[in-house]
Amino acid sequence: MARIVIMQHPLIQHKIGIIRRTETGSRDFRHMISEVAMLMCYEATRDLKLVDVDIETPICPTTVKELEGKKLAVVPILRAGLGMVDGMLTMIPAAKVGHIGLYRNEETLEPVEYYCKLPKDCAERDVFVVDPMLATGGSASAAITMLKEKGVRNIRFMCIIAAPEGVERMKKDHPDVELYIGALDERLNENGYIVPGLGDAGDRIFGTK
Ligand code: PRP
Ligand code: URA
Repeated sequence: MARIVIMQHPLIQHKIGIIRRTETGSRDFRHMISEVAMLMCYEATRDLKLVDVDIETPICPTTVKELEGKKLAVVPILRAGLGMVDGMLTMIPAAKVGHIGLYRNEETLEPVEYYCKLPKDCAERDVFVVDPMLATGGSASAAITMLKEKGVRNIRFMCIIAAPEGVERMKKDHPDVELYIGALDERLNENGYIVPGLGDAGDRIFGTK
């Protein structure tokens, strides 16, 4: 079973508190989602490999650490995952970005696929799938299955709020995928929304309701 990391950092918890508030408007919501993604990215990349490189400072030659140069990709699940991309790229600017379009059928809660465009060499990359919300887990699980079908092997999933139901679904469907979770909430309600959650992440980012 891969690692499940629930963020403890006070800055992350504080910003998630702001995101949850009903009165937080789209501009601040977007800004906070991006900042939380950036901070979570910092936590989720703690184990990236480093290599020694010989350089010269203005004073003398020395050896410094450099990222091994492993190729990374960020794959947001549309729409709401888009809100996390900038924050991720602030931390790892060399990453390529793929997109997977899925929406939940509001009655069945089953994910419906409508778009998939990935970097050509995606199978050789370590991929961070991002989506603010892990509710039933149907969307995340389907996105990861799509990536695996394209040969991607090293996958991490990052979400800002998760329901226990979604975590269980991921453990069952993709036990090899590391999960990075900003906050683990209580449950889903009868409409498949996370409680207490933050409402509809896509609508709040894009101001569509
Ligand atoms: C939301 C969210 C996830 C999904 C989570 O997207 O961003 O993708 O629901 O729910 P699940 O875990 O039960 O699948 P939504 O389907 O509302 O689409 P949107 O991002 O286009 O608004
Ligand atoms: N999708 C959202 O945007 N919010 C939820 O609470 C559940 C799914």
